[in-house]
Amino acid sequence: MKTWRIAILPGDGIGPEVTAQACHVLHAAGERFGFDLALHEYPIGAAAVKSHGEPLPSLTREAVVAADAVLLGAVGDPSMDAAPRALKPETGLLQLRALLGVYANLRPVAVHPALADRSPLRPERLNGVDLLIVRELTGGLYYGEPRSNDGTVAVNTLRYSAGEIERVARVAFEAARGRRGKVLSVDKANVLETSQLWRETVIRVARDYPAVQLEHIYVDYAAMRLVSDPASIDVLVTENMFGDILSDEAAVLVGSLGLLPSASLGAGPGLFEPIHGSAPSIAGQGVANPIGAIASAAMLLRHGLGMAEAADEVERAIALALADGARTRDLCRPGDRGLTTREVGDRIRGLVRKAGVRPGTIG
Ligand code: IPM
Ligand code: MN
Repeated sequence: MKTWRIAILPGDGIGPEVTAQACHVLHAAGERFGFDLALHEYPIGAAAVKSHGEPLPSLTREAVVAADAVLLGAVGDPSMDAAPRALKPETGLLQLRALLGVYANLRPVAVHPALADRSPLRPERLNGVDLLIVRELTGGLYYGEPRSNDGTVAVNTLRYSAGEIERVARVAFEAARGRRGKVLSVDKANVLETSQLWRETVIRVARDYPAVQLEHIYVDYAAMRLVSDPASIDVLVTENMFGDILSDEAAVLVGSLGLLPSASLGAGPGLFEPIHGSAPSIAGQGVANPIGAIASAAMLLRHGLGMAEAADEVERAIALALADGARTRDLCRPGDRGLTTREVGDRIRGLVRKAGVRPGTIG
């Protein structure tokens, strides 16, 4: 039997706590569905700077390119805010994305019925919200050269090639074809040349997908549309920086940033990570929500290993646990302590182990 090799990069802050739970769930899925997983941990982020002197050490770089998939917790440490860019934890993450060539970042956002009361939006606005953000991940302002800051003038470069736009647009159209058949392309084509090229390229790609309906909107209006009419959105495709901002906004719909997973895909091994950050203010307390990481593990099973059935089962277990009231503090009312990271992880793991459990029957 093949053993799947998964590189685990716990990283900083709450990263180690949430990835530990995701690993337990992956093992449970392997036992249940009869596949072998070899999970090995490697340093990244501030933790790696402390242990190896750089945010993406060579041992990690070698391990991720040789792995079948990569699961990451979070990077970021406020004590390193003043560090030179080469030593910033975030630099390790950007180097990792570039190394793996994961240009398409999928961020699904679906409202769980049991959590509709956790969103600040009125419940009727949340009916039917099920959208997928496809964020370009290896180009744009994050990577553009030249870049500099001499203390008086700072420069970042926004650059996109038609090839970079086309390949991520194709991922969006392919996804829409298997969903509700709609692509919403977000740009700032009234101001930016990069956005004009974005729009022209997306229009060209759309010709290959006649069954998919394409709409273009400016990013400022997209920010409004995400909260005023989120159910109208199926697949939203956009450039790196816009996608970063809009995906945090979309997290408000579901009630907590701690719930949302992501999959970053390219030609090689995929990178799977929750969209939340390292949350230093709650790190080490055992209160972080592990669901974003566990749902990222489900995406790893589906997109990274091609195990759709196991992925469905992990997602079903998450939904059942939430329906049964398994909530960390971020999903509770003020003053309510909620369950610990480990307790929520254990409940989900228990559900993955047992087949055919229905809501309300969890012992
Ligand atoms: C994310 C994060 C990262 C990003 C940071 C940590 C560099 O916010 O994955 O959304 O901006 O891409
Ligand atoms: Mn972000």
